[in-house]
Amino acid sequence: MAKAASRSALEHSRIVDPAGIIPDLSRPEFEAFRALILARTGIALGPHKRALLQVRLGTRLRALGLASFGNYRHLLVEQDPEGDELARLVNAVTTNKTEFYREARHFTYLAQQWVPEALERAARDGQRIIRIWSAGCSSGEEPYTIAMTLADALPQAAGWSLRILASDINTEVLSRATAGIYRFEDVRPIPRAVLRRHFLRGRGTQAGLVRIRPELRQLVRFRSINLIEDGWPIETPFDLIFCRNVLIYFDRPTQQRVLERLVECLKEGGRLVLGHSEGVHGMVSGLRPAGSTIYHKESHHAGDHPDR
Ligand SMILES: C[S@@+](CC[C@H](N)C(=O)[O-])C[C@H]1O[C@@H](n2cnc3c(N)ncnc32)[C@H](O)[C@@H]1O
Repeated sequence: MAKAASRSALEHSRIVDPAGIIPDLSRPEFEAFRALILARTGIALGPHKRALLQVRLGTRLRALGLASFGNYRHLLVEQDPEGDELARLVNAVTTNKTEFYREARHFTYLAQQWVPEALERAARDGQRIIRIWSAGCSSGEEPYTIAMTLADALPQAAGWSLRILASDINTEVLSRATAGIYRFEDVRPIPRAVLRRHFLRGRGTQAGLVRIRPELRQLVRFRSINLIEDGWPIETPFDLIFCRNVLIYFDRPTQQRVLERLVECLKEGGRLVLGHSEGVHGMVSGLRPAGSTIYHKESHHAGDHPDR
């Protein structure tokens, strides 16, 4: 038993990645990094994530020529006044999995339910500006899917203005999102006609790549926003907020705080869209279910039209 435990400790300490051996991330060091990551990002790493963190931070150690995780933490805490290395740490620890049309039912809902309601409302009040926030947008597939869906579902000539804010804490994925360039295999979930309408195909040195067309690209504004920090740069409330597959990385008190603030940023009658394994149950009031992990912000004033 003791032998097995010491063998597993040895295996743990000598993780080898393709570029070499990564030094040991001791349990106390792991706990210190966990606390730092929780405080700066809200991401609550489980106790079983030690090997994963060792590999992910190991790449930073090597890039900086540091011999131990203790040295790396010292650098982060004592020698990083501008927060540049902290940003790289954040880039290394966030999980950015995403894809075009991920959880496709949300886009079906947008096109088939939400847009017809918006058209009816516009016929009543003449309001043709739609504001959307994709919070935790990763490399842009989500906000661009929203843009394609709405651009195709709204009548072209009716003067609609679509404004999408897309934000993330990870600066590297934001640069990729801003460039709007994807590999051909990334856009396979997109129907061919939609692909032709909204993407340009790379040729020559760009073969195998596609690029979002400028007219779609300019509907989306990318910004770095840390959801657990105060002072989000939001001035006007949104009609729709997508915050999908982000809250799952936070602990419950953080989820609740972020949810409360997201709801404040929604117009009355606006919709909050979460990921398939997320929900608002017991954490915020003033929302009612409007579909699968879609929530409708109710009006404050009894008797108001529910969609206003
Ligand atoms: C798994 S991706 C989800 C992407 C997209 N919403 C989707 O569902 O396909 C989670 C994203 O949340 C971002 N994230 C994690 N913590 C964050 C925070 N505190 N503030 C803003 N974004 C955060 C990560 O960088 C990552 O890009």
